[in-house]
Amino acid sequence: MPALLPIKESQRAVVNEVSKALQPHFSAIRTNWRNRMFAEFQLDGRAMAALERLTIGTGFRLFCHDNIHTFEENTSYYGKRLAKLQVDIRVVSQALDIYLELLDPYVHQMFEVERLGEVIAALDRFSSATYVAVSNAYFDAQKAEAATLLAVLDAELTAPNLSALLNRVLQVTTESFRASLGVILLRDADAPVLRARANVGFGDEIENLEIEFGHGFSGHIAQTGEPGILPDITESHGRLNPFCRDKAQALWGVPLKAGEKVIGVMLIGFAKPYVWLPTEHELLRAIADRSALAIQRAGMTEALREREARIAELSGYLLRAQEEERKRISRELHDETGQALMVIRLYLGMLEATVTTRTAKTKIHETLEVVDRTIEGIRRIIGRLSPLVLQELGLIAAIRKEAKDLAKSAGVKAKVSVGDNVGRLSPVTETAVYRVVQEALHNVAKHAHATTVTIQLRRDGGLVKLCIEDDGVGIKQSQKPNPGRRSFGLAGMRERITTLEGTLKVGPASRNDEGAGTRIEVTVPAASAGDWHDRGLTLVPGSGEVHAKGAN
Ligand SMILES: Nc1ncnc2c1ncn2[C@@H]1O[C@H](COP(=O)(O)OP(=O)(O)OP(=O)(O)O)[C@@H](O)[C@H]1O
Ligand SMILES: [Mg+2]
Repeated sequence: MPALLPIKESQRAVVNEVSKALQPHFSAIRTNWRNRMFAEFQLDGRAMAALERLTIGTGFRLFCHDNIHTFEENTSYYGKRLAKLQVDIRVVSQALDIYLELLDPYVHQMFEVERLGEVIAALDRFSSATYVAVSNAYFDAQKAEAATLLAVLDAELTAPNLSALLNRVLQVTTESFRASLGVILLRDADAPVLRARANVGFGDEIENLEIEFGHGFSGHIAQTGEPGILPDITESHGRLNPFCRDKAQALWGVPLKAGEKVIGVMLIGFAKPYVWLPTEHELLRAIADRSALAIQRAGMTEALREREARIAELSGYLLRAQEEERKRISRELHDETGQALMVIRLYLGMLEATVTTRTAKTKIHETLEVVDRTIEGIRRIIGRLSPLVLQELGLIAAIRKEAKDLAKSAGVKAKVSVGDNVGRLSPVTETAVYRVVQEALHNVAKHAHATTVTIQLRRDGGLVKLCIEDDGVGIKQSQKPNPGRRSFGLAGMRERITTLEGTLKVGPASRNDEGAGTRIEVTVPAASAGDWHDRGLTLVPGSGEVHAKGAN
């Protein structure tokens, strides 16, 4: 490292010589210097003490031992201290000048006339070199402050989550102040209680720490919203939590405020009693203000992320519950209503055989027809509620059946094209894809005024791709059936597919002009086929009949 005081060897030797010669007079010189300084600047004791350390009067012992290096280190240290005490650099310059002035009569008295020029030049040089070193120290102190604030800003911009942000801010702060201890406590969302969320120098013991607002040192800072300092913990008179008492000798604390609201407290601790200097106090507050904003933002983002995750979890659960509920209702319709209708049908048939009058026969016959239509209707409802064809014959057969039903009910020509390698997928995937097809085809029937719809299903490596395209009026052109009413079909499709970590795109049909027709594209991971077991219901293949399992 280059010498902080660029002063020639020969001049340094002269300064040493002067220090030795003036030794008996330094006390008197210092008294005069203090009086002059006090009259001109009225500095506080800490600033005066730091200035005094820059003079040969204090450094003479070091010079006597030719220990200029330690003197240089002291100059840099006290220079920084003066910067932190916010002493104007011009005051430093004047303090050094006054000191030189006071040395002058002694120098004249003690040195031969022919040496005076050399001695005065060496003292001048020493004084200006000291001033340069102090200016550098001022510059370094400002640079360090700016670097600290930049590091906090960097943490804010790059920390991936709240906990990382808190740790980085605390790390930067404790390093910047050379503190041995640090903790950030954040307020609970719903109670005035502080909890430790990041720490330096404590370890796990602090994790369960809980401090009520108003209690102890940090609770007081949280309640008043004002910074606090315990320069010497031995005099804290019980205001301090015991876990801090063993670890530090001095504690500084600042509130973390978002607007007027205290969202937390940052504490840093030192191994020795220590009072903050004005710029240190200001820097700590600036760090706290900057970090509070970042912490609040990160907290909100985290809460939003958590809420999104909870909503996704909940909607997944609701979709599963909905499927279960549909199955339960269809089972009850089948087992209760369906069976009862079958019994009614049987008895009516027997009755028809026994009655003799023509009117009665006609009435019973008509009733039997109503019962048959009702049974047919219930079968349709059961099929829609719980896609048994899906469970029994798989997705492809279920899609073909839906397409056939659409053609029959809405008169839309439906083409189904399935890749060879689709195979069976996991139950959840098949159900989701099936429900998307079902809703999309309902929409075609309800809104599209289409003549043709094509449904394509294929497998592409680990993905299943579904595409449903109609040649109808397109989504933008179609009139909302009920403008005041909210629609759930497309949203439900998206939700199902998102739950499976797939994607859904809705847009105009590709082969038509822009806006004509609708195309829905779904991509989902093709999870392997799961455990297929129906829940008490079977569909007799080929017959279209639904039977309770085990029934003849
Ligand atoms: N294939 C389509 N062709 C034309 N317009 C469509 C098509 N599919 C959807 N739409 C339009 O998009 C809107 C939203 O569809 P969505 O399925 O979300 O709701 P919905 O069918 O109106 O009601 P819900 O499905 O909740 O019973 C529909 O109201 C309709 O205007
Ligand atoms: Mg719909």
